[in-house]
Amino acid sequence: MKRETVVVLDFGGQYNQLIARRVRECNVYCEIYSYKTSIEKIKEIQPKGIIFTGGPNSCYEEDSPTYSKEIFELGIPILGICYGSQLMMHLLGGKVEKAPVREYGKIEVNVDTNSKLFQDVSPKTICWMSHNDYISQAAPGFAISAWTDDCPVAAAEYTEKNLYAVQFHPEVLHTQEGTKMLSNFVYNVCGCTGDWKMDSFVEESIKAIREKVGDGKVLCALSGGVDSSVAAVLLSKAVGNQLTCVFVDHGLLRKNEGDEVEAVFGPDGPYSLNFIRVNAQERFYEKLKGVEEPERKRKIIGEEFIRVFEEEAKKIGAVDFLVQGTIYPDVVESGVGGESTVIKSHHNVGGLPDYVDFKEIIEPLRNLFKDEVRKAGLELGIPEYLVFRQPFPGPGLGIRIIGEVTAEKVKMVQDADAIWREEIAKAGWDKKVNQYFAALTNMRSVGVMGDERTYDYAIALRAVTTTDFMTAESAEIPWEVIGRTTSRIVNEVKHVNRVMYDCTGKPPATIEFE
Ligand code: XMP
Repeated sequence: MKRETVVVLDFGGQYNQLIARRVRECNVYCEIYSYKTSIEKIKEIQPKGIIFTGGPNSCYEEDSPTYSKEIFELGIPILGICYGSQLMMHLLGGKVEKAPVREYGKIEVNVDTNSKLFQDVSPKTICWMSHNDYISQAAPGFAISAWTDDCPVAAAEYTEKNLYAVQFHPEVLHTQEGTKMLSNFVYNVCGCTGDWKMDSFVEESIKAIREKVGDGKVLCALSGGVDSSVAAVLLSKAVGNQLTCVFVDHGLLRKNEGDEVEAVFGPDGPYSLNFIRVNAQERFYEKLKGVEEPERKRKIIGEEFIRVFEEEAKKIGAVDFLVQGTIYPDVVESGVGGESTVIKSHHNVGGLPDYVDFKEIIEPLRNLFKDEVRKAGLELGIPEYLVFRQPFPGPGLGIRIIGEVTAEKVKMVQDADAIWREEIAKAGWDKKVNQYFAALTNMRSVGVMGDERTYDYAIALRAVTTTDFMTAESAEIPWEVIGRTTSRIVNEVKHVNRVMYDCTGKPPATIEFE
């Protein structure tokens, strides 16, 4: 049976992944495609519905992203959001122009509750607006279904053709009844039944992996993080001892992490995997010598990682498949799926070298968002402490040491990070924040220790709250926790004489430092 799919057509807006997540939260599978995707491809997918995203352009300008008008004739329901709504109107004969009053923020919107889209929504509801242009006149055939004081067409619909347009952003939580609206779209308008559930994902994946692998040998890149752990357990359930897990200690792990991973996945742990630990620390440090540029560091670490696997594979002999724990946001952020700008080339995707000595790469989590990976992990019976472990990037401490990586700097950041994590946990803040770590800034400054002048490094502490890791807020950790951590770090970690707390959210910063 074919899985119901909603396609998000990406016109370059910043909330595109959020739209896909919200749709999936309604138990409907959703994928993001660039607006450059051909209409043939869309037809092939046979989506139950299509969502046009927002975007930074003005649809009436010549070079702005657009789409063939034919899409409106496919009989597939379409919801246009922000730029997507304007483009729909523009292409179908409505009028879009610069708004006399720019709307930005939470705005009270009047909605027609007879609309399928606004069923069970309050007649006056708070929505998130962010637009310079506006629809001054809806296209022929469209009825206006929402409006504000400054925006005569906040929503419009052509019900016979199942075309819907909303100027605001139902996907962001500031739109108080946005989830309801998206659920109305996928259920009331597209007629979805909601067949995207984690138990069916696990079952289907195991079946698909078995079919694909046959009696082939599988090699899994296990890092001990949530993604690769879930991928490894999924694979081991599917192909048992045809699977070998190789854990590369690249010397950029957190303090004692190598031993911890071995304790869980090694021969004394609860899983019966073939487990190989490779101690490749020196190799990575050698490759990283003198390299300061973040993207190069990421690429080097990613490539070296693959090389180590190739070598292990050769030792094991005739390996057919390599498993990686790539997840959907990695794919989209690397510019593979959607239209958004490449922000960082993610370890699992951007760093692949040209030559890979395996038949194929298996990425069983490639279509999942992080919270879906966790749900799948629980479904697979992986212990909660592993499933809810805070994320740790593939390139590890390599991207938490600004500038050149050396063994000494790794030790500094490991020790500082261990102290920070210990103090955060002691204060009970580990449950309140989603990610917290220490980074080594490349800044050295003058200090005084005893009667001695010092010229040493500054550690930056980071703790963020986030639901999706695409946006994040700096957490308001109590001063006493930061204070205690600071004195411990400057006392216990050699060559650190200054500690700073990073107060920046994402955007404008990212969670990691590089
Ligand atoms: P940024 O720094 O992009 O991080 O705001 C968002 C989340 O992604 C993690 N991260 C990575 N994870 N490979 C990974 O598997 C990577 O290369 C990578 N870079 C960042 C980061 O820890 C945060 O949770």
